[in-house]
Amino acid sequence: MAVTRLTPEDVVASIAELPPMPASISEVISACDDQDMTVGQLSQVVLRDQSLTANILKLANSAFYGHARRVTTVTEAVVLLGFSAIKSLAISSHTARLLNRSLPGYGLQAGELWHHSMCVAFTARRVAVEVHLAPVEEAFVAGLLLDIGKTVLSSHLEGAFGEVMRVAAERHAPFHHIEAELLGFDHAELGARIAAKWSFPPELEEAIRFHHDPAQATLKPMLSHVVHVSDVACTMLGQGIGGDGLAYEVCPESLEALAFDQARMMRLMDEIAPMMDSGAFGID
Ligand SMILES: [Fe+2]
Repeated sequence: MAVTRLTPEDVVASIAELPPMPASISEVISACDDQDMTVGQLSQVVLRDQSLTANILKLANSAFYGHARRVTTVTEAVVLLGFSAIKSLAISSHTARLLNRSLPGYGLQAGELWHHSMCVAFTARRVAVEVHLAPVEEAFVAGLLLDIGKTVLSSHLEGAFGEVMRVAAERHAPFHHIEAELLGFDHAELGARIAAKWSFPPELEEAIRFHHDPAQATLKPMLSHVVHVSDVACTMLGQGIGGDGLAYEVCPESLEALAFDQARMMRLMDEIAPMMDSGAFGID
């Protein structure tokens, strides 16, 4: 099999090659965290970046934010959605450029991982509201970034996807276990390191690291459970899973932590099914 194990240095070098956060996005993120920022000032910061402005308006109008009336200006988006949602949308706008790519190492066509990540993000936000896990936007960002490590590992698995799938099916083992065996790292670990490089809080890093094994989380276990259940629900609906959906089952500890039974899981899948429309998250 044409797969070479990665050293910790290889991982650091691969992460360093990721495109940096553009200054316009960083400015919006800092502005959202600034207690003294007014709605008008934040809108001005957003408006400096045309594509970010367009993407924020598109995403703010996606049915999944649950606003009955159309959002037509950035100021309205800021008022209706709040500063932390604008921050999530700015992060989404940057990561879309990475997540939109085709990832042959995972059998994913262009756009598939972006769509899956957005489905998980909106589902995680919804579940966080339901179980009173604050801040809900943290669940959104964790859901959005959970598979970001695939954007780095895909090239290392390219040419071996068929073989990884065959071994995973033969052993009925999850894809990420075979990844870790072959490469020494799985996409969840890589994703956590990317989150650390982008200075996201440690609990968000943890939720990405343990999105396939949420029972291992210790800092903020509920966040990992919310993200895991949301990922499984979107995967079960068959959205953008590539090889990662193989042998991926819901962790019983997560169902217990959220007080979810099978019937609630089924209802959640019914609620999020409209997101499976392939045009639901089109952005520039
Ligand atoms: Fe994953």
